[in-house]
Amino acid sequence: VTSGPAAGPDTHSGGSSSVGTATSPPALGTGRLESLSVGPFELESGITIEELTVAYRHDGPGPAEAPQVLAIHALTGSADAAGDWWAPLIGPGLALDTDRVGVLCANLLGGCYGTTGPISIDVRSGRPFGAVFPEVSTRDQARAQWRLLDALGIGELAVATGGSLGGMVSLEVALERPAAVRTVVPMAAPAATGALAMAWNAIQLEMIEALGERGLALARQLAMTTYRSEADFEGRFGRRFEADGRLSIASYLDYQGRKLVERFDPDTYRTLVRAMDLHDVGHDRGGIVSAFGALASAGTRVIGLGISGDILYGPAQVQALVRDASAAGTVAIYRELASTKGHDAFLVEWDQLGAVLGEALSPE
Ligand code: COA
Repeated sequence: VTSGPAAGPDTHSGGSSSVGTATSPPALGTGRLESLSVGPFELESGITIEELTVAYRHDGPGPAEAPQVLAIHALTGSADAAGDWWAPLIGPGLALDTDRVGVLCANLLGGCYGTTGPISIDVRSGRPFGAVFPEVSTRDQARAQWRLLDALGIGELAVATGGSLGGMVSLEVALERPAAVRTVVPMAAPAATGALAMAWNAIQLEMIEALGERGLALARQLAMTTYRSEADFEGRFGRRFEADGRLSIASYLDYQGRKLVERFDPDTYRTLVRAMDLHDVGHDRGGIVSAFGALASAGTRVIGLGISGDILYGPAQVQALVRDASAAGTVAIYRELASTKGHDAFLVEWDQLGAVLGEALSPE
């Protein structure tokens, strides 16, 4: 299997990328998109991806010189945290100060920005996997992150973090190797995906199933209504109309749907949404509290960040996560980000995010 990055002008920066293998010297601190082939990869389902390629970007010093931070992207993000979706947080002098810490971000397994996923070529057919790409779980995605970390010689993480799907995977990264993760910071993410989020996902998947790319655009429109808040939509759009007579909010959603179709594909979206559905840290571990027991034994700290007004994975879900981690004996702290933006605040509220990341990097 080989992977080809999708056209995504807003998701990659730093010029050309290079492809290595697990035996090449690891490219660390380059501040640009790299790609590494890390061999066959067996999924939880028992299906094997014959060759896993992982796209990543690493900024700052390597593990011999400084602590390492793993940032994990959300549903439609890319490895370019430092140049794109978390750019105000990563760099010299910023909250994740790349003069002091190394920051790694990789495209998730099943994604379309350079890591093996539905748009990659299936060596068995010579064509893209498309709809036959196997189901992956957040646990598979976390194990793929560890495969990359191993290949890069990063054995320990000071912090593993991410928002939404990225937050779910950050929990699995810590649970996969508790002793190797000092602090895990799931943001706007639950320990297990709940029924309401799965309901929204189910509707989105049906739209895609029925309508292909048009369905993807509609799925994005529905999703956008869960990423923001009543206050945000009221303030920005209210009851206003566009010059063409359309409701401003409808015009905005239509624009966002079409914009996603230009940079994403339906099978990738389906794969990543299904990974969110499958997310349950307690699965096969005797339940959530029992799962968090492994973090307690290893001394891994949990800082759960809830976002006020997040209707998708809101404060109650993050508080429950922190409560369950505490019940297991883990040092678990709840922090809340105050925002009118809703779920997407983890992509917007830089000062508050910086403060939480600063706390995560500081000694307990
Ligand atoms: N009609 C049509 N288009 C409109 C509009 C209207 N009434 N009002 C605004 N727009 C357009 C703007 O022109 C702008 O276009 P551009 O992106 O081409 O510059 C765009 O909408 C602005 O989008 P908006 O969502 O308002 O940006 P923001 O700055 O408020 O939010 C992000 C920033 C990063 C949160 C947002 O861009 C984003 O990516 N949201 C989705 C994040 C996501 O996937 N979250 C998933 C969590 S699982």
